[in-house]
Amino acid sequence: MLIRQIIVTLVIALGVLCDTADNKIEECILPEDLVNEIASYAPTVQKIINTSINGSFKGITYNELAYFVDKFGNRISGSQNLEDAIDFMIKKSSASGLDNVHGEEVKVPHWIRGSESATMIEPRTKSLTLLGLGNSVGTPPEGILAEVLVVKSFDELNAKAGQAKGKIVVYNQDYISYGQSVAYRGQGATAAAKVGGVASLIRSITPFSLNTPHTGMQSYKDNVTKIPTACITVEDAHLLQRLQDEGYTIKILLKMEAQTLPDVTSRNVVAEIEGSKQPEKVVIVSGHIDSWDVGDGAMDDGGGVFISWGALALLKNLNLKPKRTIRSVFWTAEEFGYVGAFGYAQQHQNETDNFVFLMESDIGTFNPVGLEYAGGATGYCIVQEIAKLLAPINATKTRQSPSVGSDIEIWTGNGIPGASLDTENDKYFWYHHTPADTLDAEDSVSLDKNTALWASVAYVIADLSIDFPRDSLKTKH
Ligand SMILES: *[C@@H]1O[C@H](CO)[C@@H](O)[C@H](O)[C@H]1NC(C)=O
Ligand SMILES: *[C@@H]1O[C@H](CO)[C@@H](O)[C@H](O)[C@H]1NC(C)=O
Ligand SMILES: *[C@@H]1O[C@H](CO)[C@@H](O)[C@H](O)[C@H]1NC(C)=O
Ligand SMILES: *[C@@H]1O[C@H](CO)[C@@H](O)[C@H](O)[C@H]1NC(C)=O
Ligand SMILES: *[C@@H]1O[C@H](CO)[C@@H](O)[C@H](O)[C@H]1NC(C)=O
Ligand SMILES: [Zn+2]
Repeated sequence: MLIRQIIVTLVIALGVLCDTADNKIEECILPEDLVNEIASYAPTVQKIINTSINGSFKGITYNELAYFVDKFGNRISGSQNLEDAIDFMIKKSSASGLDNVHGEEVKVPHWIRGSESATMIEPRTKSLTLLGLGNSVGTPPEGILAEVLVVKSFDELNAKAGQAKGKIVVYNQDYISYGQSVAYRGQGATAAAKVGGVASLIRSITPFSLNTPHTGMQSYKDNVTKIPTACITVEDAHLLQRLQDEGYTIKILLKMEAQTLPDVTSRNVVAEIEGSKQPEKVVIVSGHIDSWDVGDGAMDDGGGVFISWGALALLKNLNLKPKRTIRSVFWTAEEFGYVGAFGYAQQHQNETDNFVFLMESDIGTFNPVGLEYAGGATGYCIVQEIAKLLAPINATKTRQSPSVGSDIEIWTGNGIPGASLDTENDKYFWYHHTPADTLDAEDSVSLDKNTALWASVAYVIADLSIDFPRDSLKTKH
């Protein structure tokens, strides 16, 4: 077996031509045997797809997700809701006949929001819609009443540093992209405290708003006063900007009861379809089971959890047992900084060599388009061949990133291949971390397709005659 694998790997190495500087592969020439082998999975994949979108599994992912979010609601790290939801998924995975179902303990943060309000007192009275940010400290019980300084950027704040002392700093940064703009949420409080601000209010990180506040993580840098911090809506940030530009003095009364309690024990949930030939080798499918404490965490990340559960339940139902193990992991405390995944990585360090491929869905389970892949060039050629099997659900697109995922980035950022689900997710950040993250953001037909995609890709990779290649096996001209 091993020798066969080495030979195949060497043959594959010759197959990749022209790995150009921008990491786009101009041409894939995989060994014909391997291409044929992948193509031979078409009837199996077709069966998986038919069962999920038009057979006994039709509607199951959505209905099960609906039952779950209706029963537990949101599931913030440290909460009893989260632990109850974890117990439920352990029971559910066992009842679905999955193997080795269990929870794995990890310590997680316990931040609680309490009540919170922000009221503009001058130049007129108006209640502002806000959501305190994760890890924020609270205000004194009587609140913080202070003048406001609105800035559009960190640069503007630094230029106006002399005016910030004793003020509530409001950031009205433009939305560029989530990745770029989220720095204001993550570091806004620290930057404001450095120039003497007493609190910070940050325009929600979103391209679209119906006066919706978006919460999320922030962290205080060392040696900086921890000041209360919250997100306000895009509309209110615009209002405060206009009032300042019109020359008004603005005053806000901010009250927040937020506090951090001691860490508590939570669990990552693990369930498997054990491999028939090499059970120690693992393909992981995953999503995170915790959520923010607003909305119902249906989209972020109930959808990811339920397609990962659904993929295994579906394969089990079809009696499809691959050569390697497929393991679903429902990560805990993702929202507080991949806490569950870091714990898992530590506890499974000695198993890392056996992690063949990791998959995660955490940027929406909308209508699928394909996969976003991180890994070597040869692997990308294989992923493209596998994606062709998804033609019946029109999810054949692939693209590459240096690393993918939130939780799985610990591995995909370190040379272990993996993929994120790629969907028509241009509205993801409309709902993200808001009270609007409810079941209404999800769609039954899309979930069926995503479950089928997840099951198909995991099954083929776990069943191939070769281990999914890790290295890029680049050949130079
Ligand atoms: C799946 O469904 C399609 C369309 O209804 C049908 O043509 C095909 O034969 C089915 N394949 C399997 C394996 O059930
Ligand atoms: C769905 O399945 C039914 C039979 O179970 C079949 O008649 C129908 O053609 C299928 N539709 C699609 C779109 O595959
Ligand atoms: C914080 O202050 C302590 C003591 O003054 C110092 O040792 C440490 O290096 C500082 N940390 C940072 C990040 O500035
Ligand atoms: C990893 O370590 C754990 C705990 O020491 C042990 O039970 C497990 O068998 C080890 N796994 C591998 C693949 O070496
Ligand atoms: C298939 O998906 C592509 C985007 O990936 C889209 O442009 C096209 O319209 C889709 N085709 C069908 C038949 O849905
Ligand atoms: Zn998420």
